[in-house]
Amino acid sequence: MATLELIDIAKRFTKKVWGVKKMDLEVEEKEFIVLLGPSGCGKTTTMRMIAGLEEVTRGTILLDGKDITDIPPRDRGISMVFQNYAIWPHMSVYENIAFSLKLKKMPGAEIKQRVQETADMVKIGELLKRLPGQLSGGQQQRVALARALAVRPRLFLMDEPLSNLDAKLRVIMRTELKAIHQQTEATSIFVTHDQSEAMSMADRIVIMKDGEIVQIGSPDDVYFRSSNMFVAGFIGTPPSNFFTVKCEFKKEKISLKHSHFTLEIDSIGIEELKKYSGKEIVLGVRPEDLLVVADDKAVFTEEVLVVEPQGSHQVVALNLSETIVKMIVSAETKVNPGDKIGLGFNIKRIHFFDKETENRIPLISEA
Ligand SMILES: Nc1ncnc2c1ncn2[C@@H]1O[C@H](COP(=O)(O)OP(=O)(O)OP(=O)(O)O)[C@@H](O)[C@H]1O
Ligand SMILES: [Mg+2]
Repeated sequence: MATLELIDIAKRFTKKVWGVKKMDLEVEEKEFIVLLGPSGCGKTTTMRMIAGLEEVTRGTILLDGKDITDIPPRDRGISMVFQNYAIWPHMSVYENIAFSLKLKKMPGAEIKQRVQETADMVKIGELLKRLPGQLSGGQQQRVALARALAVRPRLFLMDEPLSNLDAKLRVIMRTELKAIHQQTEATSIFVTHDQSEAMSMADRIVIMKDGEIVQIGSPDDVYFRSSNMFVAGFIGTPPSNFFTVKCEFKKEKISLKHSHFTLEIDSIGIEELKKYSGKEIVLGVRPEDLLVVADDKAVFTEEVLVVEPQGSHQVVALNLSETIVKMIVSAETKVNPGDKIGLGFNIKRIHFFDKETENRIPLISEA
């Protein structure tokens, strides 16, 4: 268990290529942090700098307040699990897990106990005599986890550890990893580009783009209070819909004019939009906040393009002047392609973004 602090760290690979441009992050003891972002945004580079496998170009890394920036990887008390497991094929499961403990010169009896205990925790306690080649992909990944956890690291780093597993196993392992974390309480950083994995596992999510952090927050923060359009579009499946509207204040009402509809809403609690009166802003609307309503209550009507059944719900797609709009509709609602449906908004959940900066327009009511 440890705290970690990244202070203004950066990694420049070549004159033009920055792996990470700037990272500032404070990780609390026992916290489970998830780094999330598109391919190439600098997640692995960040992890490698923390582990000491990559030198920083700039900045300081503190573990429990102690500067570890120039300390060799093996002396940092950090364990890392990679996407491609990297377990040793010629060693048995037992030997794989025991290896680092032997390096630490732990007494034999203690090693035996620790290996069994850790293997049981990740549910491979019965497989200790096997060679990695005799295991399934999921079991091999568990060996990699056990090997990293056996040393009881102060900080546990996992870089897309589940991405080689099939979809069903990933979801199972997600829950198990969370349970393991609750048991070990090891401060953990987990990398993924799967937003639903991030939402379900993280205490806090760090969303990265182009080598920088764009938002740090709880799963609720990034979902309900996305700091900009990139986050609103990246988090959630399907992602947020965006509507560019002209904003006009009329006494206690605001009218938001889109090319397909005009939405009139109460201005109470959203007075901050006043400075945008006469200007364009962007509405971010999550697919579950676009509602099928009776025609007389509809803000607009539109023809259904595609219906995607998902079992528990259905995703309905509409075509609004060359922009696909997606909404989540209950499984019971009868909708078919070609139907004209009435649409409304869950007004309290609409996000407002500045069209120029693409940043969230902060509202007093959210503070
Ligand atoms: N050794 C290297 N030399 C030069 N450029 C590198 C090196 N390693 C990474 N990069 C570049 O740094 C940037 C960040 O890479 P990184 O591997 O950290 O991304 P990532 O977020 O982990 O992506 P992914 O989701 O695909 O794993 C990318 O543009 C990548 O091409
Ligand atoms: Mg990576």
